[in-house]
Amino acid sequence: MTAPITAPYTNPDARSWRTEPMRKTSLDFHRSLPHYAPTPLIPVPALAESLGVGTVLVKDESSRLGLPAFKILGASYAVARALSARLGEPHALPLDTLRERLGTNSGLSLIAATDGNHGRAVAHVAHLLGLPAAICVPPGVAEEAREAIVAEGAELTELDLPYDEVVDHAAELSGGDALLIQDTSWDGYVDVPQWIVEGYITLAQEIYEELATSGVDQPDLVVVPAGVGSLAHAIVQHYRSTTHAPALAVVEPEVAPSVTTALHTGAPVSVATGETIMMGMNCGTVSGIAWPTLRDGVDASLTVTDDQARAAVAELRDFGVDSGPCGAATLAALRTICDDDELRRNLGLGPDSVVVLLSTESTAANPKGS
Ligand SMILES: Cc1ncc(COP(=O)(O)O)c(C=O)c1O
Repeated sequence: MTAPITAPYTNPDARSWRTEPMRKTSLDFHRSLPHYAPTPLIPVPALAESLGVGTVLVKDESSRLGLPAFKILGASYAVARALSARLGEPHALPLDTLRERLGTNSGLSLIAATDGNHGRAVAHVAHLLGLPAAICVPPGVAEEAREAIVAEGAELTELDLPYDEVVDHAAELSGGDALLIQDTSWDGYVDVPQWIVEGYITLAQEIYEELATSGVDQPDLVVVPAGVGSLAHAIVQHYRSTTHAPALAVVEPEVAPSVTTALHTGAPVSVATGETIMMGMNCGTVSGIAWPTLRDGVDASLTVTDDQARAAVAELRDFGVDSGPCGAATLAALRTICDDDELRRNLGLGPDSVVVLLSTESTAANPKGS
């Protein structure tokens, strides 16, 4: 374990770093799902004015494919890829095709560890496919999230262990026909987390398409909440493989600064975590496959407190945006950036800047900040 570092981190070279584009097949897959629709990109002019920037757009993931968080994007695509691979198919088959081809006696099941949203998404996909699911959770997961997992028909196991160790436990349960669908990677466990990251690319694609049709400039800054850093991985990969290069800022809870500490340290270290209302971000170790991309492509990484996240939940609610603590953490981070001349300058923010905040969950997904 490394001592956590919560001081803001900046990397002036990140804007000029470029990488290869990631496969963009997830959007086609998601479009094949019933009830798919792009989530809204909501302008909040009053926020922009109070922060001294040109435009603030909130990518609102409060209702995504019937669930109250973005995580279903990754879980659905990864499960489809993993099951399709079992059937010898190199692409993600639509879920109804998979259900038909697997039949009722496949013997397959899905396993995941979660601090709420990911496990709920895996349980939901298992339910759609008619497969059993076993979901493991650490203490402190919102009752609503636990109930929702059980309501999907999954078996819920509550463990008195920190999140990282719950992941280890889920990994031990998996094997053979019990498929681990985990949103973080480590040595020897890469394919599924990679597919999850590819699934998240849909979100970035939607922002791109929405901005292209609305006549708004491309973003100058995108703020992304991080737990294990898989969503941030997708966002960095997306923007650093385009000619347009917004600044990219990561936000974490003060009690779980795994990405910030790793960036300061220059290595993917583990930190002890504490308690936070930003449950989905309460992770102590950066995903292995995310690390090199975050190291090279993240402009800034900073932490916020529960009080800051709570205030941001309330502020967004006043503007008509339903954002749980993880999603609202991005606004808390933007406030920190805008209040700090050096950070503002480092990220190139000015009175005309367009900022996108990724609001990754609704208050229903995690009512703790309300
Ligand atoms: C609502 C929400 N936002 C952000 C995150 C962070 O995503 P990642 O763990 O990929 O960094 C999570 C993770 O579970 C989440 O549930």
